[in-house]
Amino acid sequence: MTVAMLTRELHEEVRALAEAKNAVILAHNYQRPEVQDVADYVGDSLGLSRQAAATEAETIVFCGVHFMAETAAILSPEKTVLLPDLGAGCSLAASIDAEQLREWKAQHPGAVVVSYVNTTAEVKAESDYCCTSGNAKFVIEEIPPEQEILFLPDMYLGLWLEKVTGRKLTIWLGECHVHAGIRPADIERWQEEAPDAELLVHPECGCASQAMAFGNERTQILSTEKMIDYARRSPKQRFLVATETGIIHRLQREAPGKRFEAVRDDAECRYMKLTTLEKVRDSLRDGKHRITVEAQLAERARLAIERMVAIGS
Ligand code: 13P
Ligand code: SF4
Repeated sequence: MTVAMLTRELHEEVRALAEAKNAVILAHNYQRPEVQDVADYVGDSLGLSRQAAATEAETIVFCGVHFMAETAAILSPEKTVLLPDLGAGCSLAASIDAEQLREWKAQHPGAVVVSYVNTTAEVKAESDYCCTSGNAKFVIEEIPPEQEILFLPDMYLGLWLEKVTGRKLTIWLGECHVHAGIRPADIERWQEEAPDAELLVHPECGCASQAMAFGNERTQILSTEKMIDYARRSPKQRFLVATETGIIHRLQREAPGKRFEAVRDDAECRYMKLTTLEKVRDSLRDGKHRITVEAQLAERARLAIERMVAIGS
């Protein structure tokens, strides 16, 4: 049997199981192409959280990473949330734990805590607001200007937010290894090789490349889903993409005929790539791996997450 035949067979098996189990399959834009293709909804962290909150399905299969499934479990505690591979962590979420956040808060009494969604439930429970790259600017703008803001854990997203909001933030020094690995030289090279292309940059990318890109009318700094909206609507035909390479498949699907190139082919998140079609099938068939959040902890984390879901477009 060829790979294409096997993929088609697995795809059909997954769709049949999803229907039989009244399950919805949610996939992040960084997932493998064949996993994106089997999903009911593909999107960014914000869109996925909103889908998880709104779905009427009994089961959510989360093709993404652990904090995303955990967020879904907090938003929809009555639903079964499944993560196909328990190893799907996040280096950024691992850069701060609840104890470190409590200590940081103690050093800044009265500050408002804004946590990126890439955090554990324990960290969210210590936070006032959550945000994603899709709505972080609007979340910051909700907070009175005189209030000190502790922003965590991504320093590059924090620095970008300072630029776009004009607010000074107190920033945790965390980073995502995939986005931090995209270097200014990668972008410089492309700016020379493809002067006709537009550059789409994720705000988790290193500040040097953002600073270079910032203010340049050929460059857009966007969350993954906003990159897709932008590419669809832009009259431009060629785009360079500075984020995890999984998004290229989604861009090609949503804006066929346009040309998309990753600024670095090795910008791959090993955690996102752990989910395969076989694991999605096994997850649905065997009800594994169920993600639950202890009720009291979920209660403390819910307000910050609900604010995130409600703020911004
Ligand atoms: P968004 O898809 O929300 O832009 O997030 C990127 C990311 O790194 C998720 O882990
Ligand atoms: Fe975490 Fe970075 Fe992977 Fe996103 S790309 S899941 S931030 S390690």
